[in-house]
Amino acid sequence: MKDTLLKIKSEALAALAAENADIETLRIKYLGKKGELTAVLRGMGKLTPEERPVIGQLANDVRAEIEAEIEKMSASAKTAALEAKLKAEKLDVTVPGTKIPMGKCHPLALVQRQLEEIFLGMGYSIAEGPEVEYDYYNFQALNIPKDHPARDTQDTFYITENILLRSQTSPVQARVMENTQPPIKIISPGRVYRSDAVDATHSPLFHQCEGLVVDKGITMGDLKGTLEMFAKTMFGEDTRIRFRPHHFPFTEPSAEVDVSCFACGGKGCRLCKGEGWIEILGAGMVHPNVLRMCNIDPEVYSGFAFGLGVERIVMLKYHIDDMRHLYENDIRFLHQF
Ligand code: PHE
Repeated sequence: MKDTLLKIKSEALAALAAENADIETLRIKYLGKKGELTAVLRGMGKLTPEERPVIGQLANDVRAEIEAEIEKMSASAKTAALEAKLKAEKLDVTVPGTKIPMGKCHPLALVQRQLEEIFLGMGYSIAEGPEVEYDYYNFQALNIPKDHPARDTQDTFYITENILLRSQTSPVQARVMENTQPPIKIISPGRVYRSDAVDATHSPLFHQCEGLVVDKGITMGDLKGTLEMFAKTMFGEDTRIRFRPHHFPFTEPSAEVDVSCFACGGKGCRLCKGEGWIEILGAGMVHPNVLRMCNIDPEVYSGFAFGLGVERIVMLKYHIDDMRHLYENDIRFLHQF
Protein backbone atom coordinates (compact mmCIF):
# COMPACT_ATOMS: atom_id res chain seq x y z
CA MET A 1 0.00 0.00 0.00
CA LYS A 2 2.89 2.23 0.80
CA ASP A 3 4.25 1.68 -2.70
CA THR A 4 0.90 2.50 -4.25
CA LEU A 5 0.75 5.79 -2.35
CA LEU A 6 4.26 6.79 -3.37
CA LYS A 7 3.47 5.84 -6.96
CA ILE A 8 0.35 7.99 -6.92
CA LYS A 9 2.40 10.85 -5.53
CA SER A 10 5.14 10.71 -8.11
CA GLU A 11 2.67 10.25 -10.97
CA ALA A 12 0.52 13.16 -9.79
CA LEU A 13 3.51 15.51 -9.39
CA ALA A 14 4.87 14.51 -12.78
CA ALA A 15 1.48 15.05 -14.42
CA LEU A 16 1.16 18.46 -12.80
CA ALA A 17 4.63 19.44 -13.92
CA ALA A 18 3.89 18.55 -17.54
CA GLU A 19 3.29 21.33 -20.01
CA ASN A 20 -0.40 22.05 -20.71
CA ALA A 21 -1.40 20.20 -17.55
CA ASP A 22 -5.16 20.46 -17.02
CA ILE A 23 -5.10 21.14 -13.29
CA GLU A 24 -8.80 20.62 -12.64
CA THR A 25 -8.86 17.23 -14.39
CA LEU A 26 -5.79 16.12 -12.45
CA ARG A 27 -7.32 17.27 -9.16
CA ILE A 28 -10.36 15.11 -9.79
CA LYS A 29 -8.22 12.20 -10.95
CA TYR A 30 -6.04 12.11 -7.84
CA LEU A 31 -7.96 13.82 -5.04
CA GLY A 32 -11.63 13.53 -6.10
CA LYS A 33 -14.21 11.29 -4.42
CA LYS A 34 -13.67 8.65 -7.07
CA GLY A 35 -9.98 9.47 -7.34
CA GLU A 36 -7.00 7.19 -6.91
CA LEU A 37 -6.04 8.35 -3.43
CA THR A 38 -9.56 7.88 -2.10
CA ALA A 39 -9.61 4.37 -3.52
CA VAL A 40 -6.44 3.55 -1.58
CA LEU A 41 -7.82 4.98 1.65
CA ARG A 42 -10.93 2.84 1.26
CA GLY A 43 -8.68 -0.23 1.46
CA MET A 44 -7.28 0.82 4.86
CA GLY A 45 -9.76 -1.45 6.63
CA LYS A 46 -7.75 -4.44 5.56
CA LEU A 47 -4.61 -3.20 7.30
CA THR A 48 -3.37 -4.34 10.68
CA PRO A 49 -3.84 -1.93 13.58
CA GLU A 50 -0.07 -1.30 13.59
CA GLU A 51 0.10 -0.48 9.88
CA ARG A 52 -2.96 1.77 9.88
CA PRO A 53 -1.54 4.96 11.51
CA VAL A 54 1.66 4.71 9.51
CA ILE A 55 -0.14 4.36 6.19
CA GLY A 56 -2.76 6.92 7.31
CA GLN A 57 -0.01 9.45 8.00
CA LEU A 58 1.65 8.73 4.67
CA ALA A 59 -1.69 9.07 2.82
CA ASN A 60 -2.26 12.46 4.47
CA ASP A 61 1.22 13.62 3.56
CA VAL A 62 0.74 12.55 -0.07
CA ARG A 63 -2.64 14.35 -0.23
CA ALA A 64 -1.16 17.49 1.32
CA GLU A 65 1.73 17.49 -1.10
CA ILE A 66 -0.46 17.05 -4.16
CA GLU A 67 -2.87 19.74 -2.88
CA ALA A 68 0.00 22.16 -2.34
CA GLU A 69 1.28 21.56 -5.84
CA ILE A 70 -2.20 22.04 -7.33
CA GLU A 71 -2.56 25.30 -5.37
CA LYS A 72 0.78 26.53 -6.66
CA MET A 73 -0.01 25.59 -10.25
CA SER A 74 -3.42 27.21 -10.31
CA ALA A 75 -2.06 30.42 -8.78
CA SER A 76 0.58 30.71 -11.47
CA ALA A 77 -2.02 29.84 -14.14
CA LYS A 78 -4.14 32.76 -12.90
CA THR A 79 -1.20 35.13 -13.05
CA ALA A 80 -0.37 33.95 -16.56
CA ALA A 81 -4.00 34.45 -17.66
CA LEU A 82 -4.05 37.96 -16.23
CA GLU A 83 -0.79 38.79 -17.97
CA ALA A 84 -2.10 37.49 -21.27
CA LYS A 85 -5.29 39.55 -20.83
CA LEU A 86 -3.36 42.71 -20.05
CA LYS A 87 -1.20 42.16 -23.10
CA ALA A 88 -4.22 41.64 -25.35
CA GLU A 89 -5.99 44.72 -24.03
CA LYS A 90 -3.02 46.99 -24.37
CA LEU A 91 -4.16 50.60 -24.92
CA ASP A 92 -2.26 52.70 -27.41
CA VAL A 93 -2.99 56.30 -26.49
CA THR A 94 -1.13 57.55 -29.55
CA VAL A 95 -3.70 56.09 -32.02
CA PRO A 96 -5.72 59.01 -33.49
CA GLY A 97 -9.32 59.20 -32.20
CA THR A 98 -12.49 58.76 -34.20
CA LYS A 99 -13.71 62.16 -35.36
CA ILE A 100 -17.28 63.06 -34.40
CA PRO A 101 -18.57 65.40 -37.10
CA MET A 102 -19.51 68.77 -35.62
CA GLY A 103 -22.95 70.11 -36.45
CA LYS A 104 -23.68 73.74 -37.26
CA CYS A 105 -26.38 76.06 -36.12
CA HIS A 106 -29.12 76.40 -38.76
CA PRO A 107 -29.19 79.97 -40.14
CA LEU A 108 -32.78 80.42 -38.93
CA ALA A 109 -31.81 79.40 -35.41
CA LEU A 110 -28.70 81.54 -35.66
CA VAL A 111 -30.66 84.69 -36.50
CA GLN A 112 -33.33 83.88 -33.93
CA ARG A 113 -30.61 83.69 -31.28
CA GLN A 114 -29.19 87.01 -32.44
CA LEU A 115 -32.65 88.57 -32.21
CA GLU A 116 -33.12 87.19 -28.73
CA GLU A 117 -29.73 88.43 -27.64
CA ILE A 118 -30.35 91.95 -28.98
CA PHE A 119 -33.71 92.29 -27.22
CA LEU A 120 -32.73 90.52 -24.02
CA GLY A 121 -29.92 93.09 -23.91
CA MET A 122 -32.57 95.85 -24.03
CA GLY A 123 -34.42 94.32 -21.08
CA TYR A 124 -37.07 92.31 -22.92
CA SER A 125 -38.12 88.85 -21.88
CA ILE A 126 -39.17 86.03 -24.19
CA ALA A 127 -42.81 84.95 -24.35
CA GLU A 128 -44.18 81.91 -26.10
CA GLY A 129 -47.59 81.07 -27.48
CA PRO A 130 -49.19 78.04 -29.13
CA GLU A 131 -48.85 77.40 -32.85
CA VAL A 132 -52.33 75.88 -32.88
CA GLU A 133 -54.28 78.95 -31.90
CA TYR A 134 -57.82 80.18 -31.35
CA ASP A 135 -59.35 82.40 -34.00
CA TYR A 136 -60.00 84.76 -31.10
CA TYR A 137 -56.32 85.42 -30.33
CA ASN A 138 -55.06 85.24 -33.91
CA PHE A 139 -57.69 87.70 -35.21
CA GLN A 140 -60.52 88.92 -33.00
CA ALA A 141 -58.48 90.13 -30.03
CA LEU A 142 -56.28 91.91 -32.57
CA ASN A 143 -59.17 94.00 -33.82
CA ILE A 144 -59.85 91.72 -36.79
CA PRO A 145 -63.48 90.53 -36.50
CA LYS A 146 -64.85 87.52 -38.36
CA ASP A 147 -65.58 89.21 -41.68
CA HIS A 148 -62.70 91.71 -41.71
CA PRO A 149 -60.99 91.95 -45.13
CA ALA A 150 -57.52 91.88 -43.46
CA ARG A 151 -58.11 88.16 -42.98
CA ASP A 152 -57.71 87.61 -46.73
CA THR A 153 -53.99 88.40 -46.65
CA GLN A 154 -53.45 85.95 -43.82
CA ASP A 155 -55.34 82.88 -44.97
CA THR A 156 -54.19 79.92 -42.94
CA PHE A 157 -55.01 76.29 -42.10
CA TYR A 158 -58.11 75.73 -40.04
CA ILE A 159 -58.46 72.86 -37.57
CA THR A 160 -62.05 73.82 -36.79
CA GLU A 161 -63.93 77.01 -37.47
CA ASN A 162 -62.43 78.55 -34.32
CA ILE A 163 -59.05 76.84 -34.12
CA LEU A 164 -56.30 77.43 -36.67
CA LEU A 165 -52.55 77.39 -37.23
CA ARG A 166 -51.53 80.91 -36.21
CA SER A 167 -50.82 83.15 -39.20
CA GLN A 168 -48.67 85.58 -37.19
CA THR A 169 -46.95 85.83 -33.79
CA SER A 170 -49.20 88.77 -32.84
CA PRO A 171 -51.66 86.54 -30.89
CA VAL A 172 -48.92 86.26 -28.24
CA GLN A 173 -49.40 90.02 -27.67
CA ALA A 174 -53.03 89.46 -26.73
CA ARG A 175 -52.21 86.43 -24.57
CA VAL A 176 -49.52 88.31 -22.64
CA MET A 177 -51.58 91.49 -22.16
CA GLU A 178 -54.57 89.46 -20.98
CA ASN A 179 -52.50 87.98 -18.15
CA THR A 180 -50.12 90.81 -17.28
CA GLN A 181 -50.61 94.38 -16.25
CA PRO A 182 -47.98 96.82 -17.63
CA PRO A 183 -45.09 97.38 -17.72
CA ILE A 184 -44.80 94.74 -20.44
CA LYS A 185 -41.68 94.25 -22.54
CA ILE A 186 -41.55 91.01 -24.50
CA ILE A 187 -40.47 89.47 -27.75
CA SER A 188 -41.99 86.29 -29.08
CA PRO A 189 -40.18 84.37 -31.79
CA GLY A 190 -41.84 81.34 -33.34
CA ARG A 191 -43.37 79.47 -36.25
CA VAL A 192 -46.34 80.81 -38.18
CA TYR A 193 -48.39 79.36 -41.02
CA ARG A 194 -50.13 80.67 -44.10
CA SER A 195 -51.92 79.02 -46.94
CA ASP A 196 -49.22 80.00 -49.45
CA ALA A 197 -47.72 77.91 -52.24
CA VAL A 198 -43.96 77.28 -51.96
CA ASP A 199 -41.74 79.51 -54.11
CA ALA A 200 -38.50 81.45 -53.73
CA THR A 201 -40.03 83.92 -51.26
CA HIS A 202 -43.02 82.03 -49.81
CA SER A 203 -43.54 79.00 -47.63
CA PRO A 204 -46.66 77.74 -45.82
CA LEU A 205 -44.51 77.60 -42.68
CA PHE A 206 -42.18 80.42 -41.73
CA HIS A 207 -40.91 82.26 -38.68
CA GLN A 208 -41.70 85.62 -37.15
CA CYS A 209 -40.56 87.53 -34.13
CA GLU A 210 -43.05 89.74 -32.37
CA GLY A 211 -42.16 92.61 -30.07
CA LEU A 212 -44.45 94.35 -27.58
CA VAL A 213 -43.92 97.15 -25.09
CA VAL A 214 -46.76 98.56 -22.98
CA ASP A 215 -46.31 101.09 -20.21
CA LYS A 216 -47.26 104.62 -19.21
CA GLY A 217 -46.13 107.23 -21.71
CA ILE A 218 -44.82 104.94 -24.48
CA THR A 219 -44.62 106.87 -27.75
CA MET A 220 -43.75 106.34 -31.38
CA GLY A 221 -40.35 107.85 -30.50
CA ASP A 222 -39.67 104.81 -28.30
CA LEU A 223 -40.61 102.54 -31.19
CA LYS A 224 -38.28 104.38 -33.56
CA GLY A 225 -35.40 104.37 -31.13
CA THR A 226 -35.84 100.69 -30.39
CA LEU A 227 -36.00 99.67 -34.04
CA GLU A 228 -33.03 101.83 -34.95
CA MET A 229 -30.98 100.24 -32.20
CA PHE A 230 -32.09 96.81 -33.41
CA ALA A 231 -31.26 97.57 -37.07
CA LYS A 232 -27.78 98.88 -36.26
CA THR A 233 -26.97 95.84 -34.13
CA MET A 234 -28.32 93.38 -36.67
CA PHE A 235 -27.12 94.95 -39.94
CA GLY A 236 -24.27 97.25 -38.98
CA GLU A 237 -23.57 100.59 -37.31
CA ASP A 238 -24.22 102.66 -40.47
CA THR A 239 -27.74 101.31 -40.99
CA ARG A 240 -30.57 103.86 -41.07
CA ILE A 241 -34.29 103.13 -40.82
CA ARG A 242 -37.35 104.74 -42.36
CA PHE A 243 -41.04 104.48 -41.56
CA ARG A 244 -43.66 104.31 -44.32
CA PRO A 245 -47.35 104.70 -43.40
CA HIS A 246 -49.22 101.42 -43.57
CA HIS A 247 -52.30 99.76 -42.12
CA PHE A 248 -52.56 96.97 -39.57
CA PRO A 249 -55.89 96.56 -37.78
CA PHE A 250 -54.19 96.12 -34.39
CA THR A 251 -51.91 99.17 -34.47
CA GLU A 252 -52.69 102.82 -35.01
CA PRO A 253 -50.78 104.52 -36.45
CA SER A 254 -49.09 101.72 -38.34
CA ALA A 255 -45.95 101.65 -40.42
CA GLU A 256 -43.81 99.44 -42.56
CA VAL A 257 -40.19 99.85 -41.64
CA ASP A 258 -37.27 99.75 -44.07
CA VAL A 259 -33.54 99.63 -43.40
CA SER A 260 -31.03 101.36 -45.63
CA CYS A 261 -29.50 98.74 -47.90
CA PHE A 262 -26.47 97.36 -46.06
CA ALA A 263 -24.98 96.06 -49.30
CA CYS A 264 -24.76 99.43 -51.13
CA GLY A 265 -25.33 101.84 -48.25
CA GLY A 266 -28.43 103.26 -49.95
CA LYS A 267 -27.09 103.99 -53.43
CA GLY A 268 -29.15 101.20 -55.00
CA CYS A 269 -27.97 97.72 -55.98
CA ARG A 270 -29.14 94.23 -56.86
CA LEU A 271 -30.01 93.35 -53.25
CA CYS A 272 -32.31 96.35 -52.73
CA LYS A 273 -33.49 96.23 -56.36
CA GLY A 274 -32.16 99.73 -56.92
CA GLU A 275 -34.28 101.17 -54.10
CA GLY A 276 -31.57 101.83 -51.52
CA TRP A 277 -34.04 100.60 -48.88
CA ILE A 278 -35.16 97.14 -47.81
CA GLU A 279 -38.43 96.44 -46.02
CA ILE A 280 -37.91 94.36 -42.90
CA LEU A 281 -40.91 94.62 -40.61
CA GLY A 282 -44.36 95.93 -39.68
CA ALA A 283 -44.95 98.03 -36.60
CA GLY A 284 -47.14 100.58 -34.90
CA MET A 285 -48.73 101.84 -31.70
CA VAL A 286 -50.98 99.23 -30.09
CA HIS A 287 -54.60 100.04 -31.04
CA PRO A 288 -56.72 101.23 -28.08
CA ASN A 289 -59.31 98.56 -28.97
CA VAL A 290 -56.70 95.85 -28.52
CA LEU A 291 -55.60 97.23 -25.15
CA ARG A 292 -59.23 97.45 -24.05
CA MET A 293 -60.01 93.87 -25.12
CA CYS A 294 -57.07 92.73 -23.01
CA ASN A 295 -58.24 94.67 -19.92
CA ILE A 296 -55.59 97.37 -20.17
CA ASP A 297 -56.85 100.94 -19.86
CA PRO A 298 -55.82 102.91 -23.01
CA GLU A 299 -56.32 106.16 -21.09
CA VAL A 300 -53.51 105.17 -18.73
CA TYR A 301 -51.25 103.02 -20.85
CA SER A 302 -49.91 103.02 -24.37
CA GLY A 303 -47.63 100.68 -26.23
CA PHE A 304 -45.89 99.77 -29.45
CA ALA A 305 -45.61 96.51 -31.30
CA PHE A 306 -43.61 95.20 -34.20
CA GLY A 307 -43.36 91.96 -36.09
CA LEU A 308 -40.60 90.80 -38.38
CA GLY A 309 -40.07 87.81 -40.62
CA VAL A 310 -37.04 85.81 -39.56
CA GLU A 311 -36.54 84.20 -42.99
CA ARG A 312 -36.39 87.63 -44.56
CA ILE A 313 -33.65 88.76 -42.20
CA VAL A 314 -31.71 85.53 -42.77
CA MET A 315 -31.97 85.86 -46.55
CA LEU A 316 -30.89 89.50 -46.51
CA LYS A 317 -28.06 88.96 -44.09
CA TYR A 318 -26.57 85.94 -45.83
CA HIS A 319 -27.54 86.84 -49.41
CA ILE A 320 -29.73 83.78 -49.89
CA ASP A 321 -31.80 84.14 -53.05
CA ASP A 322 -34.23 81.29 -52.50
CA MET A 323 -36.14 80.62 -49.28
CA ARG A 324 -36.39 76.91 -50.06
CA HIS A 325 -32.69 76.49 -49.24
CA LEU A 326 -33.63 77.08 -45.61
CA TYR A 327 -35.90 74.03 -45.43
CA GLU A 328 -34.18 71.49 -47.66
CA ASN A 329 -31.54 70.43 -45.14
CA ASP A 330 -28.81 70.17 -47.76
CA ILE A 331 -25.71 69.75 -45.65
CA ARG A 332 -23.56 71.55 -48.27
CA PHE A 333 -25.74 74.62 -47.85
CA LEU A 334 -26.00 74.46 -44.08
CA HIS A 335 -22.27 74.03 -43.60
CA GLN A 336 -21.61 77.55 -44.84
CA PHE A 337 -22.91 79.28 -41.72
N1 PHE B 1 -48.36 90.61 -37.49
C1 PHE B 1 -48.07 91.49 -38.59
C2 PHE B 1 -47.86 90.64 -39.85
O1 PHE B 1 -47.69 89.44 -39.75
C3 PHE B 1 -46.82 92.31 -38.31
C4 PHE B 1 -47.02 93.32 -37.22
C5 PHE B 1 -46.77 92.97 -35.90
C6 PHE B 1 -47.43 94.60 -37.47
C7 PHE B 1 -46.94 93.89 -34.88
C8 PHE B 1 -47.61 95.52 -36.48
C9 PHE B 1 -47.36 95.17 -35.17
O2 PHE B 1 -47.87 91.14 -40.94
